[in-house]
Amino acid sequence: MAEAGLAAAIDRVGNVYGRTPGNRRTVLIGSHTDSVPNGGWLDGALGVMYGLEIARAMIEAGHAGGVDVISFQDEEGTFLPCLGSKSYCGVLSNDDLARAAGPDERRLSDVLAAAGFSAEASRFEPDRQVAYLEAHIEQGPKLEAAGARIGIVTGIVGIRRFRVRASGQADHAGTTPMRLRKDAGAALIRLAARILESMPAMSAGETVWNIGAMEFKPGAANVVPAEASFILEIRDLDEKVLDRLQTRVEAMVAEAAAGAPVAVAHESIGRIEAVAMDRALADIVRKVAARHVGEPMIMPSGAGHDAMVVARTMPSAMLFIPSIGGRSHNIVEDTREDDIVLGCRVLADAVNEVLSRAGSTDRPGR
Ligand code: GLV
Ligand code: MN
Ligand code: MN
Repeated sequence: MAEAGLAAAIDRVGNVYGRTPGNRRTVLIGSHTDSVPNGGWLDGALGVMYGLEIARAMIEAGHAGGVDVISFQDEEGTFLPCLGSKSYCGVLSNDDLARAAGPDERRLSDVLAAAGFSAEASRFEPDRQVAYLEAHIEQGPKLEAAGARIGIVTGIVGIRRFRVRASGQADHAGTTPMRLRKDAGAALIRLAARILESMPAMSAGETVWNIGAMEFKPGAANVVPAEASFILEIRDLDEKVLDRLQTRVEAMVAEAAAGAPVAVAHESIGRIEAVAMDRALADIVRKVAARHVGEPMIMPSGAGHDAMVVARTMPSAMLFIPSIGGRSHNIVEDTREDDIVLGCRVLADAVNEVLSRAGSTDRPGR
């Protein structure tokens, strides 16, 4: 970022934030550069690199307007979903920070302290930034199937994550009679199966769910599990559907706890509400895209993005480019090079359009 001519800094949660020098109207362009385990090269980084490239080109051309670029920390939620964008938008509470823990139960606060980032929190600048634009790969099959090269996002699903835990007793798995065991693993597997079997009837047409992590402790073939946990995630565009599902899942956890010789409990470990993108801004991006490739596809996002946090703070819009085979959250994730280039051109033109509407001249005094 510094090489591109941006004034760049890493803030207290690890956001990398680069501002075009001077007092001017800017568009904030960003996404994230963290990844999921064994994730691909574009999920997140694409949107940051677009911002960096557009900023570099504008500064080089001496453009009067400008862009600010941000790489948000931990969008994927290794510790806390959308940590960086929440911090940037001022909606991260000290409680959230204190409670967040990641793999191996490492505490986010300890990890941040060990990383030694600055004490400063970067914050959005409402007098300066007129809009947030995030470009991302689609991460699904719809664009490719329709032969569309650009997608314009209408809204982003709400996401709820729960950790469900069972606590029993470690015992010798060869000598302890079955009826005497307090097997946390068996109780949790039964509960997980019941939830997965009930979901299709409980959910709406577009709801998706996932049990993507499960852990047993101490985790050995010859020890009855003393502790077991899984993480359940549910997504839908409709918060009412999510409310209903949450209530039912909570009832199933309570039922499992009532009948079992082990304790079963759940906690919410992540909640981001469904959000609509700014219609006027999305329409600007749509029109610009149409000049390049004809009408883009108008679509919701089933993946979470930093835009779902930022959209509550400033006008936000997203554009998608296709994912080959719809694959993502996998190392095979990829996008055709001409699509990658096209997406950057569309985003750059959209930035110019937004800045020219906002009046992009340098202003004195700040
Ligand atoms: C981010 O990739 C998410 O949708 O969880
Ligand atoms: Mn992702
Ligand atoms: Mn992403």
